[in-house]
Amino acid sequence: QLRDGHSKTVGLVVLDVRNPFFTDVARGAETRAAQEGLSVILGNSDEDPARERAYLELFEQQRSHGVLISPIGDITARLGALRARGIPAVLVDRASPDRTFSSVTVDDVAGGRMAVEHLISEGRTRLVFVGGPLSIRQVADRLEGAELAARAHPEVSLELVTLDSLSVIAGRKAGAEIAARAELPDAIFAANDLVAMGVLQALMLQGSNVRVPEDIALIGYDDIDFAAAAVVPLSSIRQPAGMIGHTALEILLEEVANPDASPRHVEFQPELVVRRSTSASA
Ligand code: RIB
Repeated sequence: QLRDGHSKTVGLVVLDVRNPFFTDVARGAETRAAQEGLSVILGNSDEDPARERAYLELFEQQRSHGVLISPIGDITARLGALRARGIPAVLVDRASPDRTFSSVTVDDVAGGRMAVEHLISEGRTRLVFVGGPLSIRQVADRLEGAELAARAHPEVSLELVTLDSLSVIAGRKAGAEIAARAELPDAIFAANDLVAMGVLQALMLQGSNVRVPEDIALIGYDDIDFAAAAVVPLSSIRQPAGMIGHTALEILLEEVANPDASPRHVEFQPELVVRRSTSASA
């Protein structure tokens, strides 16, 4: 399925290559691409619009088959220009505001709700959501879902601790601040597993000695492989990361074959995975 003048490559731009969630997305895309004799070229924007622009330019110069991208903001106009040059794009993990580009996403509001409903079902009432920046749509949606679930229970409080990045270090800092409080919350919902790992480390450090889950239950998001391997195995909301990449590549191939097809929007449902960090009996 080689088109005239196009290289046998597909460009993939992710927001943070250190996050295993995106590694799994890349792997899913690469597996499907390989079946077509295509190679995936990975670009890491690190949430920097200049780097995102540079990668899109590179893929345009290379006449890539197409582009999969987890964009930082609204880049509809830029992707429109690529499409006009015969390079289709599929959005990964975010939908385009006007839905003119196909997208593969996960219902983050449902995921946020699921996490908080689980904590409440474990008898927790003083909850903290640790995550940010809220400009990341997924984080804002997870918080929205969490608030919806908490609001249905008058006895439950939900506090927001905002981070400036979704990283282990940011999670560790927030965890240390929480562990030092005179009155502890009894549950923490971290916006992703990297943050949860940092929180877990801070809670368990000598001097803090907060017990997980006895004193504080902790749940993350993504269900990366390391979640099950944590000192206290981490409960999480699973996203089908590999399937996201695989499906995005599939849609891209369809658009290459049929450039006039209407955009497709696939939304996966997240799944609760219960481990010891929220349930002592798990
Ligand atoms: O990009 C931020 C987050 O969105 C990732 O951790 C992953 O959860 C994704 O959905």
